[in-house]
Amino acid sequence: MSVGIPISRLWPAPQPQPLDDDALVALYPRGDHPRLRVNFVTSVDGAVSVDGYSAGLSGQPDKRVFGLLRMLCDALVVAAGTLRHEGYRAVRLSPERRAWRRAHGLAEYPTLVVVSGALDLDPAQAAFADAPVRPVVLTHAGAAAPPGLTDVVDLVRCGTETVDLAAGLAELRRRGHDQLLCEGGPRLFGALTAAGLVDEVCLTVAPLLAGPGPGRITAGDPSPVRQLPLRHVLAAEDGVLLLRYARD
Ligand SMILES: NC(=O)c1ccc[n+]([C@@H]2O[C@H](COP(=O)([O-])OP(=O)(O)OC[C@H]3O[C@@H](n4cnc5c(N)ncnc54)[C@H](OP(=O)(O)O)[C@@H]3O)[C@@H](O)[C@H]2O)c1
Repeated sequence: MSVGIPISRLWPAPQPQPLDDDALVALYPRGDHPRLRVNFVTSVDGAVSVDGYSAGLSGQPDKRVFGLLRMLCDALVVAAGTLRHEGYRAVRLSPERRAWRRAHGLAEYPTLVVVSGALDLDPAQAAFADAPVRPVVLTHAGAAAPPGLTDVVDLVRCGTETVDLAAGLAELRRRGHDQLLCEGGPRLFGALTAAGLVDEVCLTVAPLLAGPGPGRITAGDPSPVRQLPLRHVLAAEDGVLLLRYARD
């Protein structure tokens, strides 16, 4: 597979030669205990979107790492808002990436997990209807499912009036999904941060000024400030930075 725009490591231990996919995978290791990794792309001035979508921030290096992170996870967690707005399709992986997963003892595809309080979800959306693995929806006891939803997803109810995210992640782990990748969006990220559930953040910084208007990559009620140590800085030749922060 073509690597496209070269990516190299700036820190620690600068390594000017371009990183191939094996080297990138080694820089985004699966943990040896359950972990939640969050992946976002932002502009230099901290925008979550351009013209309402993340696509205006993303480019080939971001998409390359985005795809590798999907290959590496057991389950892919996304908020209902982002799923609806970005029109999520079924999670697909190339034959090479499915072979990589099989060789590493993983299921052929990660399981899609959607977090929703209102269950305003369309069972016909391709993310559900065409899913290679039955998706999971994390919701709460009071949420009413629309017709047809439980035909295509497993509903997991955690919490009485709001989604208890800690209980939801514990249930995912009970199902064998130890390495979780969250692709947002901002309100889910804010709630996960507030609950102290974020182990790692992979952040792509696009060399763009989006200007005022778009929100940040996090949203919701204020929560305590937390430390998150920097683990690496990668740079793509188009000026994109790929940062990884993780707690021990
Ligand atoms: N830059 C990036 O990397 C990136 C990544 C992802 C998204 N985005 C952007 O973010 C925007 C979407 O953001 P958004 O405001 O819709 O936020 P969001 O977090 O994507 O979605 C919010 C919705 O998701 C569900 N949800 C989130 N957290 C929940 C919780 N703790 N408990 C229960 N349900 C929860 C709720 O759905 P229900 O209404 O069904 O209850 C809520 O209304 C889009 O513009 C998208 O392009 C950017």
